[in-house]
Amino acid sequence: MTASLQHPNIAKLRFWGLLTGGSDIPGTLANARRKGLTMLQNNVRSAAPPIERFSFETKPHGEGGFARVIRGRDNELERDIAVKVLNPLATQFSPPEQERFRREARILARLSHPNIPSVYDVDFRPGHFIIISQFIEGTNLREILDEQGSIDFDRARSWFHQIASALEHAHSLGIVHRDVKPGNIIITPDRSCAYLVDFGIALSQTDALKLTKSGAWIGTPGYMSPEQEGGELIDSRSDLYSLGVTLYEALSGKRIPQGLYEELSLINQAIPPQIDDLVRACLEPRDRRIESSRAFGVQLASAFCTNRPLSEVLAHGRLHEIAVALQGMTADDFMKLPAGQRTLILVKLDDVVESPEPNLQLAAAQFLELLLTRGILLEKESYRRIVGPAINRGFERDFGQYMGRRTLRDALQSAAAVTRAEAYLVVEEEFVAFMERAQLSGMPAYLLHECRGVLQALLANPTCNAGAKKLAEFLRRVNKEQSERA
Ligand SMILES: Nc1ncnc2c1ncn2[C@@H]1O[C@H](COP(=O)(O)OP(=O)(O)O)[C@@H](O)[C@H]1O
Ligand SMILES: [Mg+2]
Repeated sequence: MTASLQHPNIAKLRFWGLLTGGSDIPGTLANARRKGLTMLQNNVRSAAPPIERFSFETKPHGEGGFARVIRGRDNELERDIAVKVLNPLATQFSPPEQERFRREARILARLSHPNIPSVYDVDFRPGHFIIISQFIEGTNLREILDEQGSIDFDRARSWFHQIASALEHAHSLGIVHRDVKPGNIIITPDRSCAYLVDFGIALSQTDALKLTKSGAWIGTPGYMSPEQEGGELIDSRSDLYSLGVTLYEALSGKRIPQGLYEELSLINQAIPPQIDDLVRACLEPRDRRIESSRAFGVQLASAFCTNRPLSEVLAHGRLHEIAVALQGMTADDFMKLPAGQRTLILVKLDDVVESPEPNLQLAAAQFLELLLTRGILLEKESYRRIVGPAINRGFERDFGQYMGRRTLRDALQSAAAVTRAEAYLVVEEEFVAFMERAQLSGMPAYLLHECRGVLQALLANPTCNAGAKKLAEFLRRVNKEQSERA
């Protein structure tokens, strides 16, 4: 019970478990467990058989340049654990490598923040380099960007706010992360939380002073500040440089260009120009750079605010301002808009959707996503103007580096679960039409999986009636295609 308590005002239960025996953990910990088990038996003399304390997945969960992360389970405390083991292929660990691993654990142990996984325990006996920490269910941002290209601005705002807050905490303890990049940010499956991991080359200010230039671990090329690349002594501002570079990549889907800065707000009209100001402030030479993670968070939050009245935003605003206005609305609010304003929004949607302009493609997808949920009370034909293009952009259009947008497909799946009859019928009809023209055999596995998600949501919807037979037939086809590939 105690182990699942997670609240900033409740002290964390320390993990003493490694010494209390268990199942087969990767070799290195077995002795400790055996010893611990004897201790436990001697001390407790309980009649109950010892429980299998730990179980582990055989396949590594994640692998970076330096270590491998294995997912495990603490069966006693009923919680998942992440076991980070120094790469066993590196047969001889150099003293600096060993020291780096120890330092990571000590640093992590000092950190206590909702967006940084807690360290539960370590095993640093000679030849053993293992850190056990809270397991974060999710996907790292690198994988998300590789799959979907870029993320939309409201997710970026929330995730980068959380990461900036994690950094603010680390910086307040004098810790510089030194390797902020998409691969070290984990996003939870519901996409609500972001965690900063891998303090592997983080250095406290005192440690940094002790390390010589040659002994210092460098970060990842492309994300490092000029001073870090140059091997200079770095401070928290270096992380802000990397954070800015990461934010740019997350929003645009591409690495920040060297030399000439290409404005995000020109690449994607849904991004406010204030975000370019923020990224630029992160890229400045150190003495002119944005001064703190807190300032980063504040500037990020305010970039997405619009205080202008909707009439003005609709008449003169940029797409990002309209999107912000839509975000704050429910389906009911949307219907309560004066008819003219509602129509104007739909006309703007048509414009953006039909435009061949590459800079409007992301904005179009984001608009569709917002309107899929805000528009469910519209009459059928108006809602169809949203659903049709959403299916096209979610499932059909090839954008070169990636196919459609995952968040748009998620929004479609939510729309398929809406029980309002008119909205439901539009989604059903349009999705059936898409399934009729789709070539399942040529579809990538993730799209098949997501087609299945929409079909299941439609079938599970209590409003589903006459269309059930057809939907079930498509679902069977998708299942067959998936099992043939397996
Ligand atoms: N606490 C954790 N919970 C779940 N997954 C994790 C955790 N820590 C790391 N990972 C996953 O493992 C990958 C590699 O871990 P990381 O600490 O970044 O190692 P490296 O130092 O080798 O880069 C990460 O990109 C992430 O996907
Ligand atoms: Mg890493």
